[in-house]
Amino acid sequence: MGRLLNGKRIVVTGAAQGIGAALAEGFAGMGAKVVLSDVADPEPAAQRVRDQGGEALGVKADVTELADCERMVAAAEKAFGGLDGLVNNAALFATLPIAMQDEIEPELWDRVMAVNVKGPWLCSRAAVPAMVRAGGGSIVMIATNRIFHGFPGMLHYDASKGAVLAMTRSLIRELGSKNIRVNTVAPGLTMSEGVLAREGIAERAPEIAASRSLARNQVPEDLVGPCAFFLSDQAGFVTGQSLGVDGGGVIH
Ligand SMILES: NC(=O)c1ccc[n+]([C@@H]2O[C@H](COP(=O)([O-])OP(=O)(O)OC[C@H]3O[C@@H](n4cnc5c(N)ncnc54)[C@H](O)[C@@H]3O)[C@@H](O)[C@H]2O)c1
Repeated sequence: MGRLLNGKRIVVTGAAQGIGAALAEGFAGMGAKVVLSDVADPEPAAQRVRDQGGEALGVKADVTELADCERMVAAAEKAFGGLDGLVNNAALFATLPIAMQDEIEPELWDRVMAVNVKGPWLCSRAAVPAMVRAGGGSIVMIATNRIFHGFPGMLHYDASKGAVLAMTRSLIRELGSKNIRVNTVAPGLTMSEGVLAREGIAERAPEIAASRSLARNQVPEDLVGPCAFFLSDQAGFVTGQSLGVDGGGVIH
């Protein structure tokens, strides 16, 4: 059997660092050709993939701008001859200060919705015509396990990721006839660069790890296999599903 993602052409948004960069690197190791997209410069992360022998392109794009999303998809088609997969990973998360619902600035609420909800919609919208040209495709939405349990301090973020799950379920009713699948992956707290830079995380990490069935810190690489499965032909009849990846912390 060949590698799981052999020849798949996949765009990962928010791939300059953290989970997105780890996904792109992992997919390339499974034979995919990857576009690393980010509003920050994704080129260093793309170069790391190429240094390991992978095929990778960095594209600077803001997911809140439809024109940027269309340019990102066009770059993937131009570089690799088509598009088979999209991971909607870009989001405002690690940089969001913890704030109770009555402390969140309405402007920040709107910005979180723009990046975390409108962004995945615009990227999916831009990707669909290219996936149709490729004969079908797979979209993976990155949510969070927080939406299945309820936690204080990030109502804007939790609302945005709940919307992502709802979009997954409604999108499949529109995209199934185009042979496009959509699934959600819901990570637990993951030690990405952004999270590690948060104040107090080192002190909280042991308690979070102990709350899991698999009692250790979650790392970005833990998301690679589950996302790759949804992007692969092995998940050819799997759509509209959500998979928690958090070491058994929250069960839904
Ligand atoms: N790390 C965690 O604990 C955790 C847990 C559950 C879910 N998630 C989700 O996983 C994903 C990645 O998390 P992470 O920890 O690697 O986050 P991160 O903050 O380190 O990375 C997010 C990336 O998105 C990019 N980005 C932000 N706004 C953008 C925009 N407008 N257009 C394009 N790119 C933009 C950032 O530049 C950054 O590179 C996010 O969707 C996050 O919500 C993370």
